[in-house]
Amino acid sequence: MRGPSGSGVDEGRPGIGVLISGRGSNLQAILEAIRDGRLNADVRIVISNRADAAGLEHARRAGVETLALEPRRFATRELYDRALADALVSRGVRLVCLAGFMRIVGPELLKTFPDAILNVHPSLLPAFPGLEAQRQAWEYGVKVSGATVHIVDEGLDSGPIVLQTAVPVLDDDTPETLAARILVQERRLYPEAISLMLANPPPRCVRRPRPARELPGERQAR
Ligand code: GRF
Repeated sequence: MRGPSGSGVDEGRPGIGVLISGRGSNLQAILEAIRDGRLNADVRIVISNRADAAGLEHARRAGVETLALEPRRFATRELYDRALADALVSRGVRLVCLAGFMRIVGPELLKTFPDAILNVHPSLLPAFPGLEAQRQAWEYGVKVSGATVHIVDEGLDSGPIVLQTAVPVLDDDTPETLAARILVQERRLYPEAISLMLANPPPRCVRRPRPARELPGERQAR
């Protein structure tokens, strides 16, 4: 059911908000999955911290509301995060999806959406968090990398894992060819993870406590 007077809002479906900073190929994958019925959700708003993010144009073309919220217009990080949270809450967003959003999410947003912010990361976490994960994996020489969708917490790419998929690293890969193959998997994985998280009840994504144990050689090393 579409909203009143062609507002573009589908109130019958769970609302999601997508935060981007750049080209928006994961955003496009989410919109495609909704269009072809693999994902039952309604993108209520796409927000970018950069007004020139190419992904904003994809959203506009799909008839989705967009908002550029530039951090330099806000006196503090708290005020910026408050504005983000307000924009999402006022559109009835239930799940926030970071899709190439190049900012650390602050406590204000985490408090407003507890266990309801997702991120997609181009490595098999906890390996290679942070920037240029594909290059990090390639430089390390791992034989398998991949993509991870995880719940966002206060750390860097550190929250509980929802879904992962492996991508082999080929002998003749460059960071770019590896990144391209990982991106294909990200675009498949992210809509699936969003769908899981919107399921009723959502899956339990756990971080099991590590028992305190001494590793071989640790005693001598002390
Ligand atoms: C993706 O590789 C994603 O894993 C990472 O940032 C990139 C965003 O790409 N977090 P796009 O903007 O979705 O094309």
